[in-house]
Amino acid sequence: MAQVSHQEHGKKVRDMFGRIAGLYDFLNHFLSAGQDIYWRYRQVKLVRPGKKGLVLDLAAGTLDVSVELLRQYPDVKVLAMDFTHQMLACGKNKKLEGKRAERSESIAAVQADGRGLPLPDNCLDGATISFGIRNILPREDCYKEVLRTLKPGARFCILEFGSGSKKIWKGVYNFYLNKVLPLLGKVVSGDSGAYSYLADTIRAFPDERALAEELREAGFGRVMFIPLLSGIVYIHVAEKAEE
Ligand SMILES: C[S@@+](CC[C@H](N)C(=O)[O-])C[C@H]1O[C@@H](n2cnc3c(N)ncnc32)[C@H](O)[C@@H]1O
Repeated sequence: MAQVSHQEHGKKVRDMFGRIAGLYDFLNHFLSAGQDIYWRYRQVKLVRPGKKGLVLDLAAGTLDVSVELLRQYPDVKVLAMDFTHQMLACGKNKKLEGKRAERSESIAAVQADGRGLPLPDNCLDGATISFGIRNILPREDCYKEVLRTLKPGARFCILEFGSGSKKIWKGVYNFYLNKVLPLLGKVVSGDSGAYSYLADTIRAFPDERALAEELREAGFGRVMFIPLLSGIVYIHVAEKAEE
């Protein structure tokens, strides 16, 4: 029964991102007032994949993190995986723009589900997921797959909103999240569901300590977290323990 509802959830999420893919980048930058660029920069700084490593960017969407990985670590290879092909397709055009074009072959975009990665054990020097883990159910399946495919000592860096159940900036952020953002999202994207879904999933998401505990329970070794913008967003770093 749970399995069926997780499948249905996955289909709903894929359909939704398929609908908004063309507007996703604009809305991202607009609704976060450009902060998302800095957040991804900070996340990628923490990956430390080594000079010529292989890095998975899971739920890669339109490839912003993949491109940032290559910018900070020019010699790595990036596997950009996402189960919504429209999102990857929008990102493919982006990676061919400007100076990054020379290195575009270092990003391989692959349509895949984060709950069953088409990768062998212990092959990755690092992994990222940015604003993706909140959408994946059950999260444990994703943790298990990332842990299986990381090399010992490699890092999984998660960028995600903190739980929207906490009051931030005396409730101003919560008002923005629950009232302003769904309305703005609806007006700009024309999709009434997508941006109320965003607010709903942020509210339902575990807080930073609970998420860290989940990662430890999944089998990761050292886990730490860093708040950004008063805890609106967190980066969690989970290391696969050395053997
Ligand atoms: C909010 S977007 C984030 C995209 C990008 N990482 C970013 O930072 O802008 C969430 C992405 O997660 C993807 N996603 C959700 N569930 C997934 C799953 N089970 N497997 C792979 N991708 C998934 C969606 O298709 C979507 O592209």
